[in-house]
Amino acid sequence: MVTGGLGYIGSHTVVELMQKGYQVHIIDNLSNSSLDVLEGIQRITGEIPPYDIFDLTEKDKVFQFFSKNSFDAIIHFAAFKAVGESVEKPLLYYRNNLNSLINILDGALNFGTKNLVFSSSCTVYGQPDDKDLPVTENSPIMPANSPYGNTKQISEEIITDFIKSNPQFSAILLRYFNPIGAHPTGFIGELPRGVPNNLVPFITQTAIGLRQELSVFGDDYNTPDGTPIRDYIDIMDLVDAHIVAVERLTKGQTKKNPEVFNLGTGRGLTVLEVIKTFEKVTEQKLNYKIVGRREGDIEKVWADTSFANKELGWKTKRTLADSLETAWKWEQYYQKNA
Ligand code: WQD
Repeated sequence: MVTGGLGYIGSHTVVELMQKGYQVHIIDNLSNSSLDVLEGIQRITGEIPPYDIFDLTEKDKVFQFFSKNSFDAIIHFAAFKAVGESVEKPLLYYRNNLNSLINILDGALNFGTKNLVFSSSCTVYGQPDDKDLPVTENSPIMPANSPYGNTKQISEEIITDFIKSNPQFSAILLRYFNPIGAHPTGFIGELPRGVPNNLVPFITQTAIGLRQELSVFGDDYNTPDGTPIRDYIDIMDLVDAHIVAVERLTKGQTKKNPEVFNLGTGRGLTVLEVIKTFEKVTEQKLNYKIVGRREGDIEKVWADTSFANKELGWKTKRTLADSLETAWKWEQYYQKNA
């Protein structure tokens, strides 16, 4: 069961699961995706997986769904995830992200699903102190800088407490850093509804002429070029880790409950470095201007990935240039076929 399976990370994970022979069932409410994504999934895998369109905040719909199906594992992606937007609309984020998780856990409890891979986030670390960078899974959980980050912190606590009262239930929490890039075929990619919140889709939409210019939110941070630092991880590397996590759960190989892994590259890059690399990869100038800081942004975070590398036998393979290439390829394909 893949919630948010028509979304950016969800759709790429669905494709990989299908190609590895898993039976996948997608749940999505189309709040930040579209049914067109099914076409891309079919182009890549040759088939359209079963899918149900409903809102996971509606408990009776969730229970109805669970009563008709049984699952070896749930991968729960479905959530709102724009840091800036969550500052403006906190209740939307708390209601959606927390109620859907609670309904998923309640459904799993009542219908016997025992394994959960949860889409968590590096935002649980808030703004780490310099001495705590790069962050490990044991770095302090700092006060969240945004309601979005707080929903991820609270979600991890909900899952941990749920496991205490239902030890037969196992979970792996995957803390993503900044997912970027697209499937190598270019048939699926990041498809934000409306104006993109995230950096890379805004870059590609500016480069293709959909957006006038990219606003760079602040260059007065305490970083080499003044712009914030993030750990940009290729979507396909991120997906690989999900396959490993599902196998680890369904084969009962977890050593703790829940297990927590940082999914990043271990490399911190500034916004301007991403822009410069994009210009090099696409051999075109990007139109951008430096503006004020964005509310909710932290200054710098990147991952210490040694635990995931060792314990999961997983590490990232793609470079920033690889990811920007596939993101650009996807943007061009999408605009031509939209
Ligand atoms: C990255 C950098 C912006 C847009 C993401 C996900 C979130 C979580 C953490 C997984 C920041 C700058 C952006 C723009 C800009 N990941 N920027 N102009 O805020 O790090 O959050 O990673 O759970 O879900 O959203 O990502 O891409 O919005 O911003 O200058 O138009 O790019 O200030 O420094 P963020 P982002």
